[in-house]
Amino acid sequence: MQQPIAILDSGVGGLTVAKEVMRQLPRERIVYFGDTARTPYGPRPAGEVVRFTEEIVDYLVQYDPKLIVIACNTATAFALEHVKKQVKVPVVGVIHPGARAALGKTDSGVVGVIGTDGTIKSRAYETALKQLSPDVHVVSQACPAFVPLVEQGNFRSEETYAAVRSALFHLREYPFDLDCLILGCTHYPFLAETISEVMGPRVALISSAEETAREIRSVLQEQGKLAATRLMPVHQFFCSGQPVMFKFIAQQWLGEHIELTPVVWQVSHIG
Ligand code: DGL
Repeated sequence: MQQPIAILDSGVGGLTVAKEVMRQLPRERIVYFGDTARTPYGPRPAGEVVRFTEEIVDYLVQYDPKLIVIACNTATAFALEHVKKQVKVPVVGVIHPGARAALGKTDSGVVGVIGTDGTIKSRAYETALKQLSPDVHVVSQACPAFVPLVEQGNFRSEETYAAVRSALFHLREYPFDLDCLILGCTHYPFLAETISEVMGPRVALISSAEETAREIRSVLQEQGKLAATRLMPVHQFFCSGQPVMFKFIAQQWLGEHIELTPVVWQVSHIG
């Protein structure tokens, strides 16, 4: 069986990246892990996010992946360098691809970033954006209410609209010409319609998924490891929490039936 690409997130968020990988690289087999028992990662201390990410990587290594994607901005901000030391295969995060995509889009040079508390406090986007373009003006906003709404499958309700409107108030009223907004959490593309309604048509929404999938392709190409098979791959999905909602959201988002295996974390993992 061909070696898979391993994709991980705190929950359903990384499915936004998985979907783009399936679109751009349809021959690649994916093993996906959503740590729904311990979501959200955003409010957790950095050390805990590092430990959780390393535990998931340990779990996924048994499937012999040829590349690992940390499809979670919070885990990318805190654990990317740790995971690179943990494994021998290439590891791709989502923050640099998101920053590159935004810089390719902005005309005004004023870029908004929304993400979890952890991602925004880490200033990882600001650092990545300024490394690539020192003159860019970055305005950031943590939106801790969004991930729980997405994990509940609550994408388009009045409650969601009110939460998005209130979280984005400052960015909407921002006095400079903010023309693009990085969805700096892989859960946020699920709320893209509502976010776009609130921000208005002049603000382009940037998800790192497309650019991350492009990076995956170029890393695999360089290594001569792009899937050569003609058979369509059978993906595997794992989640550590209650499987019903995960499966419902995954099938709706991906538009196909998925094989889901619930994983029972030891109590020591949860505590
Ligand atoms: N989807 C994740 C991210 O991109 C994690 C969100 C969370 O668990 O708080 O940051």
